[in-house]
Amino acid sequence: MNIENLKKEILEKLEKSVNLKDLELLEKDYLGKKGIIRNISSSMKDLDVQAKKELGIKLNELNVFLEEKIDKKKKAIKTSETKEREEKEFLDITLPGDKVERGHIHPLSLAKKELEDIFTFLGFSVVEGPEVEDEWHNFDALNFPLDHPAREMQDTFFIKQGNRANLSQKEKFILRTHTSNVQTRYMETHKPPIKIAVPGRVFRSEATDARHEVCFYQIEGLYVDKNVSVANLKGILLRFLQEYFKDKNVKIRLRPSFFPFVEPGFEVDMSCTVCNQKGCSVCSGEGWLEILGAGMVHQNVFSSCGLKDVTGFAFGVSVDRLAMMKYKIDNIRWFHSGDLRFLKQF
Ligand code: PHE
Repeated sequence: MNIENLKKEILEKLEKSVNLKDLELLEKDYLGKKGIIRNISSSMKDLDVQAKKELGIKLNELNVFLEEKIDKKKKAIKTSETKEREEKEFLDITLPGDKVERGHIHPLSLAKKELEDIFTFLGFSVVEGPEVEDEWHNFDALNFPLDHPAREMQDTFFIKQGNRANLSQKEKFILRTHTSNVQTRYMETHKPPIKIAVPGRVFRSEATDARHEVCFYQIEGLYVDKNVSVANLKGILLRFLQEYFKDKNVKIRLRPSFFPFVEPGFEVDMSCTVCNQKGCSVCSGEGWLEILGAGMVHQNVFSSCGLKDVTGFAFGVSVDRLAMMKYKIDNIRWFHSGDLRFLKQF
């Protein structure tokens, strides 16, 4: 066996080794217990003493030489691997972080929260009800006669249910047109005194413009007890508006109006806070703004809900409308525009 050739062969393989695994294999094949060098050593026994000695020295030298070489390469590979890993995993903790954009509370959420706080302060419990409602709770129980044009006052979204004619009023579904559905739901299951505020989304299939959206928020108030009067209604409405607009000079006036579920019914106007009733574009020079519907709960509504010998008032107001007035927003469609320039102001 030509030792020089063997050395050359091993060095070539060493050159080609690129990782620790290659090196370990090389070590095993040539220097290991069953490796080539050991193999040659054990086959020396047939040689004469001189030849044995010479070959022995050469093999030993080769062994030491290779061990050193392999060791050196191992170290080099380890160092470069560490370096590579360090470069890859390097984290510069002095770099400024990614800026996290700060969110903004939507103006409608803001208004809803403020109104809930005010009504809670005035002794009302905040409750909610379904947005998909049956016709009974949205209309019939609220004293809307079947086929009466009053139903058309609120352009209803009907849920497709095949032949609706075969269904009872409690089986016909719609998107609620007002939060008044929760009046009937609540009175069916609770005994007076009842004092609730009901915020929520309502839906009307109407053409949108600067003041109308197909979906908007209302907050409903309902107070049922013995001897509830219009004076109580006025007191609560005035106080809530003064609190909401943070203005003790807010005045209200009641005008007779019609809603099937109240008698008497009122349209409530509020003094214009923009011009202090001097007349401006917001109030069209009137000094008053029409803002909500209200009235004394109709006895038919109480009967539908199984209540007797009680009185009560109810009112419903558009949260969108209140927010528009408070923040001076000129178009209701801004609310759902998703426009950050608008939203970032709140
Ligand atoms: N539900 C009525 C509407 O949406 C408002 C209202 C509520 C009127 C309660 C009177 C009493 O127009």
